[in-house]
Amino acid sequence: MRAVVFSEYVPPEKAEVKIVDDPLPGPNDVVIDVKAAGVGFVDGLIVQGLYQVKPPLPFTPGGEIAGVVADVGPEVKTLKPGDRVMTLAPSGGFAEKAKVRAVGCVPLPEQLAFEAAAGFTVAYCTGLYGLKDQGNLKKGESLLVLGAAGGVGLAAIDIAKTLGARVIAAASTDEKRALCVAQGADETIDYTKDGWRQEIKSMTDGHGVDLVYDPVGGDQSELALRSLGHGGRHLVIGFASGTIPRIPLNLPLLKRCRIVGVDWGGWMREDPARNIPILTQLMDWVAEGELKPPAGQAYSLDQAGFAMRDLLDRKVVGKAIVTP
Ligand SMILES: NC(=O)c1ccc[n+]([C@@H]2O[C@H](COP(=O)([O-])OP(=O)(O)OC[C@H]3O[C@@H](n4cnc5c(N)ncnc54)[C@H](OP(=O)(O)O)[C@@H]3O)[C@@H](O)[C@H]2O)c1
Repeated sequence: MRAVVFSEYVPPEKAEVKIVDDPLPGPNDVVIDVKAAGVGFVDGLIVQGLYQVKPPLPFTPGGEIAGVVADVGPEVKTLKPGDRVMTLAPSGGFAEKAKVRAVGCVPLPEQLAFEAAAGFTVAYCTGLYGLKDQGNLKKGESLLVLGAAGGVGLAAIDIAKTLGARVIAAASTDEKRALCVAQGADETIDYTKDGWRQEIKSMTDGHGVDLVYDPVGGDQSELALRSLGHGGRHLVIGFASGTIPRIPLNLPLLKRCRIVGVDWGGWMREDPARNIPILTQLMDWVAEGELKPPAGQAYSLDQAGFAMRDLLDRKVVGKAIVTP
């Protein structure tokens, strides 16, 4: 089969596609014909050895996998060839086939296409855990989403609308802002222009927003925190800007607001079972048509390195996926 292989930690555009042996399932594994694999911001860091997790070399990146079960190990009773599934794996998704643990595979409802499923698990689980469990978002509250046209941002818009919130989406280009509106955002702002805080103030009758969802960091974080109303919550999701901001601690005091760290991955790895209600709720909403996960921007296997590069360079509109 063909697979993207990194034999050393190098910039993502140096990715090589090689012919390697087809994987065989162990007793509790399945082999998936990969139809789509999500590209996360972290993939572009992992392949360079710049992330806290360093996979042993050589390796095939790609942890969010959607496809069809092709083969099952002898102990696997819950899945059979032909089943449509999605799963999270440590790596291996940017390939024609991937060997994964059967226990982590989630059957896909018919409403979820492979191209949407590949970007679903991380973004949507982070969104529901962040907005509801950590942010206590309630119907009628207002939410400002930074980096709103990215994979994590679009999921936050979709979930917040399902929870009945009013969503203000911040993104850098007209094309990205249009995508946010298509996903359900009520209003948008261009947060690359000075004075956007004033816009938020006007949009909220001077009160400020109830919640900020912040996967961007950098200079925008403090401005977003200053846009909160009293009792607001600022959810720290990530630092796509590459800069971890330092926040003056008088701000949460004066605003009587909370800064809340949202590390869905760490929380889930501590005890994977506690993510089951989150994923079940999300799957129910998908089946009921409440959520509309967007199909990602597709790259071929040969373009997988450029997908990671484009993500790092802020060029992707929506979620990036690799479709082998
Ligand atoms: N806490 C968690 O559990 C969790 C889970 C998943 C992901 N994350 C983190 O969340 C962040 C976003 O992930 P994602 O998959 O949504 O990434 P993404 O699809 O690349 O979106 C990130 C967005 O950030 C904005 N951005 C602002 N400055 C940027 C810069 N200098 N370079 C690149 N993008 C920039 C871009 O929007 P504009 O161009 O519109 O500004 C972009 O759309 C990452 O840091 C990731 O590690 C955290």
